[in-house]
Amino acid sequence: MSLKQIAIDTLAKNDRGGFTIPTAGLYPYQWNWDSAFVALGIATYDIDRAWSEITTLIEGQWPDGMIPSIIFRSDDPDYFPGPARWGKTPGAIPSTGVSQPPVLATVVRQITSGPQGPARRAEVFDAIFAWHKWFHDARTVDGIVATVHPWETGRDNCPEWNIGLDKMEVAPELPPYTRMDNKHVNPAFRPSQEQYDKYLTIVHFGNSIGWDQRRLTDEGPFLMADPNIHFVLLRADKDLLAMATEIGKPAAVCEQIRAWIAKGEAASDYLWNDELGAFTARDIRTGEFSKGFSNCSALCFYADTGTPDQRRRTADNLRRIAGKVEFMLPSWDPDAPEFEAQRYWCGPLWPQMNYMTALGLAEQGEHDLGQIVRNGLCDAIEKSGFWECFNPLTGEGCVGANFSWTAAVWLSWQHETEQSDVA
Ligand code: GLC
Repeated sequence: MSLKQIAIDTLAKNDRGGFTIPTAGLYPYQWNWDSAFVALGIATYDIDRAWSEITTLIEGQWPDGMIPSIIFRSDDPDYFPGPARWGKTPGAIPSTGVSQPPVLATVVRQITSGPQGPARRAEVFDAIFAWHKWFHDARTVDGIVATVHPWETGRDNCPEWNIGLDKMEVAPELPPYTRMDNKHVNPAFRPSQEQYDKYLTIVHFGNSIGWDQRRLTDEGPFLMADPNIHFVLLRADKDLLAMATEIGKPAAVCEQIRAWIAKGEAASDYLWNDELGAFTARDIRTGEFSKGFSNCSALCFYADTGTPDQRRRTADNLRRIAGKVEFMLPSWDPDAPEFEAQRYWCGPLWPQMNYMTALGLAEQGEHDLGQIVRNGLCDAIEKSGFWECFNPLTGEGCVGANFSWTAAVWLSWQHETEQSDVA
């Protein structure tokens, strides 16, 4: 069977009726940015079904505009932390109390180029605008978009977060719990117990303040700036502005988005770690930078931001790293001390990150580097199949198998190749 067919079957098996789970067992719910990437893949053969991936995600939106990281349409005892642990949340459907990188606007713009495009863009525009506004209001500190939980960044236990987590204490009153992630997959791939206690300490705090998002940002135990959220949001704001203009939104709406973009462009510098020549995470309360090049450092190309010198040094880092691994792009710098080729976000390459990085590099004229990043993922998939992530030294699959976003990215690239062959 062709990889294309296996990818389509993988998405069909993970379909739960209008939305798709990342993979059975480990992740039994709808995840935010997973659904956006899934829509990208499904749109290559069924635009109506792709669209429902987006509208079901928006059904989970909170009154304050946030679209949460996970939407709990059921309570699966095999998953932790599920709805009971997150407590009462204000959306129409139970959910987590944090968000995820907002790739939605970019995906919507990309998949709605057909005849129904303007109507579809108009259908979801206000919801996405409200979500971006939430990032720029409830999650912004002094002009910098912040993150309050490593899970919000989508890069759960990347060593980037250690400087923020090291300063945290585990809440003494943290209720006991049993992890489920380690029952589904090899614990050596997953975050440590101490990290998990801290993740749950933040959840406990959010719950204790009734998930007041402004307070969570200002008073929560963890406050960092993440290049992933920053670059994804900046790109998404630009796509949102393009859609606002195309569908004729009022001038005030366009002005508001332009102001967010200006704020985002100015904030890129805040994340520039001159010592490493890389965009890295930063602890907002101390100003301290994280200590490694990650797989979101080069998203400056995707967001079309950064000075020529910052881009040049970023590209140099990519070339250095390409000389160290067989399969680009590792989630953490192989020259940094915490690099681990198989542990979650400490080394493995991630399909959605390769997708965005390769796209940005190609758009900005860095074709060779873009191709290296694209090939890294394609080679790993051809070698091992549709895994959640891959060991960058060997190409072996890590953590979850039969993974939706991996299948979706493959389909999107496959479609692109087929289209350019026709042209
Ligand atoms: C993990 C990843 C996150 C993803 C989720 C579901 O938590 O770190 O980015 O959204 O799994 O695939």
